Amino acid sequence: MSDRRLSDWAAALGLAAPIVCAPMGGVAGGRLAAAVTRAGGLGMIGMGSAGSVPALERELRALDAGAGSGGAPFGIGLVAWGIARDPELLDRALAAGPALVSVSFGDWESPGGDAAWIERVHAVGAQAVTQAATADEAKRAADAGVDAVVARGREGGGHGDHREPLHALLAEVVRAVDVPVLAAGAIGSARDVERVLDAGAAAAWVGTAFAACEEALTPPGAREALIRGSGADTLVTRVYDVALERPWPRRFPERLLRTPFVDRWHGREEALANDAAARAAFAAAVDAGDYSIVPVDAGEGVGGVTRVRPAAEVVALLR
Ligand SMILES: Cc1cc2nc3c(=O)[nH]c(=O)nc-3n(C[C@H](O)[C@H](O)[C@H](O)COP(=O)(O)O)c2cc1C
Repeated sequence: MSDRRLSDWAAALGLAAPIVCAPMGGVAGGRLAAAVTRAGGLGMIGMGSAGSVPALERELRALDAGAGSGGAPFGIGLVAWGIARDPELLDRALAAGPALVSVSFGDWESPGGDAAWIERVHAVGAQAVTQAATADEAKRAADAGVDAVVARGREGGGHGDHREPLHALLAEVVRAVDVPVLAAGAIGSARDVERVLDAGAAAAWVGTAFAACEEALTPPGAREALIRGSGADTLVTRVYDVALERPWPRRFPERLLRTPFVDRWHGREEALANDAAARAAFAAAVDAGDYSIVPVDAGEGVGGVTRVRPAAEVVALLR
């Protein structure tokens, strides 16, 4: 349905559908990216808190294997504090020939902020994109030179600045910036896509709906949690980050599916930080892949994830 209204932005990237598979660390690897691109959307490789140059190289190899003859567009999504910690990640991403590079969860507060990546992305002929949680943040990013901005509503899965619901945010961002605006947060159907296009978005940036796809890196136990989960089971929290001492900035908690461990410690993160035994037990559960304890990142649209599907089927559901 939405194909008939392909935005200039999506057409310029050579997409057949205005669908971007969001970069998701530990989920969106090369196989998923290749499958989404083959189905007419834009596939992206995500490097989150566990991102590294070897992990990126592994996923680029999987992308090549999945893309067949190659040449199809793909994106790479990084996190700002990740490339500050490991600048080689950006070097390697740029060398891979992506059509789009996103760097999210940075600091647009100071003029110029940590926006040096934008020029580097442009120098390789790729689009520079970032996710924004407020119109002000979107405006700062646009002023710094990004080619498109993702209005990411608080419904969205994974880390972020969960403030406004998508539709209020999208309207504000569309008014605030002149660059194309993408929309993210609990988008899981063709109607959802149609609605954001009607509101002025150039494309949908979709995470959770692709997270249980057969091509995703998602382990089986995490897929089952996604299939069981509903939006009401999601919570925005720092419990996982505190438990594993992950270096996510405090202002970007994550939306995930609650587990008894999360319920026990949410709101008591400082106590958790001081409880070495609880943290060790959690780390052991992570190593064992025990998803009765370890929470899975998911947005409020997770109820729409009802089975493991090929990514092409999800793209078809969205268009
Ligand atoms: C499992 C998971 C991992 C994510 N990892 C990243 C990441 O590494 N980098 C990033 O920019 N965004 C990441 N995100 C956020 C997505 O880019 C996007 O904002 C979000 O998925 C949109 O909401 P939805 O999940 O409701 O579709 C992640 C989201 C999920 C669900």
